[in-house]
Amino acid sequence: MDKKKKTSNTDQQYKSKFINKNNNFYHFSIAPMLRYTDRHCRYFYRLMTKKTLLYTEMITTSEILNSTKHNYLLYNIEEHPVVAQLGGSNPTMLAKCAKIIEKYNYDEINLNVGCPSKKMKHNILGAYLMMYPKLVADCIKAMQDVVNIPITIKTRIGIDNHDSYEHLYQFVSTIFKYSQCCTFIIHARKACLSGLTPKKNRKIPPLNYQRVYQLKNDFPFLRIIINGEIKTLEEIQKHLQHLDGVMIGREVYQNPSILMKIDNKIFGSRNIIKDRIAIIKSLYPYIEHELSNGIRLNNITRHMINMFKGIAGSRQWRRYISENSCNIKADIRVIERALNYIET
Ligand SMILES: Cc1cc2nc3c(=O)[nH]c(=O)nc-3n(C[C@H](O)[C@H](O)[C@H](O)COP(=O)(O)O)c2cc1C
Repeated sequence: MDKKKKTSNTDQQYKSKFINKNNNFYHFSIAPMLRYTDRHCRYFYRLMTKKTLLYTEMITTSEILNSTKHNYLLYNIEEHPVVAQLGGSNPTMLAKCAKIIEKYNYDEINLNVGCPSKKMKHNILGAYLMMYPKLVADCIKAMQDVVNIPITIKTRIGIDNHDSYEHLYQFVSTIFKYSQCCTFIIHARKACLSGLTPKKNRKIPPLNYQRVYQLKNDFPFLRIIINGEIKTLEEIQKHLQHLDGVMIGREVYQNPSILMKIDNKIFGSRNIIKDRIAIIKSLYPYIEHELSNGIRLNNITRHMINMFKGIAGSRQWRRYISENSCNIKADIRVIERALNYIET
């Protein structure tokens, strides 16, 4: 991208006005995942990392506006800092939702501009919005105008044939020009809107981390966070040499104990957690409380089954939990018995 664009007056003007408005910033976050990162999952993660930014699953504007109880927005106070992710493309509806979300004391709001589901195409949501950068900016602005919490965007490096770096540059540039958005989470692969299922869209389009690095070079004043098949602490540290933050989804779900080292290795905290069994046991009071409110044990234990990955007895732990947590009467004793399989 040519140098002139990089340092244009407009960019500088926006830079001085809006950057660092929010001083809280998180170098590591856990990706929103529909049907996975629910409040039980987030509570469990929070026991292992106090510093990481957590996200809700995507909640659409219609889900919020068509419900009076806003059950989708319920969370536990221990989950902070927590971001509510919204799916929507109508600025007025998004603004209404943003106000409700702020009342619930969420720390940030994130707009989903990356989901490639066909349902999204119908309503111009998710990745489809990459075709309409001005509309995205209007959505962001509408929310910013009515709340005091940061509004961020999660998107991809491109869609279909609109996959050049120039397209990504223009997309980010337009949003920044017309809104105050200064945090972009970029899934480092494009979305293929026709022909690939959402699942394949998370595997098949090739990763391009360099694109994300280039974006940071061209917009050094924006907070750019990278996402996409990052798996180890070493990879996180490597990306952080170039970028402001790293977001991980699937690897954390498949191997949650990685979180026990995050506060120490990534956030520089002295707190080191080593005992996986102690983490599981520290969840008991929460589980007892949820069971007493009619929640089934498996709604919580399903997020814990990968906790002992790589440890002797983990397969038996998984099997015991999976086979015995669904029973309506299942309680803490199921976990206690499953823990007996773990060799310490
Ligand atoms: C089961 C599943 C559900 C997802 N749901 C969402 C979602 O609600 N909102 C969103 O922005 N991304 C969603 N994603 C995408 C993830 O947030 C993330 O961008 C993607 O998995 C790539 O990161 P990873 O390789 O670290 O998992 C989902 C991914 C998976 C696997």
